[in-house]
Amino acid sequence: MKNIVLTGFMGAGKTTIGKLLSEKLSFPFFDTDKIIEQNANMSIPEFFEKLGEKEFRNYETEVVKLLSGTDGCVISCGGGIVLNKTNMDLLSRNGIIVYLKASIDTILKRVSSNKERPLIVAMENPKAEIEKLFNKRKQFYQRHNFSFDVDNLTPDTIVTNIINAVKDIL
Ligand code: S3P
Repeated sequence: MKNIVLTGFMGAGKTTIGKLLSEKLSFPFFDTDKIIEQNANMSIPEFFEKLGEKEFRNYETEVVKLLSGTDGCVISCGGGIVLNKTNMDLLSRNGIIVYLKASIDTILKRVSSNKERPLIVAMENPKAEIEKLFNKRKQFYQRHNFSFDVDNLTPDTIVTNIINAVKDIL
């Protein structure tokens, strides 16, 4: 069995969709941010504050290395995992890469009041800066096997769409 690997910008719903997808398929669920928080014994904002983004990215790659050895799992990735080609090469080995595509408006609605995302909290003008970051990352999110729009859709509908698309190649 292959893994289903969820990518997408912050606020695209990777964790919510990932959990539901794992329940529907009876696949174990892993969330890279949660693993980092558990292993490092600190929250993501704390990690960024104490050790910095560079160290966070190194840690992410270590987690990806571990998870790339699994099969038949649903893996929700932190929004920046796609930036590192090694991460994507590893995850693609035994994974179907599923991009959850949210519009800037949806992202803004979901993340602007959220204190759990250090990259957003540090922004002085969230709308303009999210747009800039999103545009810079767009090319990296292109690396996927399937892409699903998530705007105005319920988690149930999105999960059904994903299952229908991947079921024959799992
Ligand atoms: C990040 C996204 C976050 C988390 C960290 C960095 C990013 O995960 O990994 O704050 O660079 O986009 P979510 O996408 O789950 O919010």
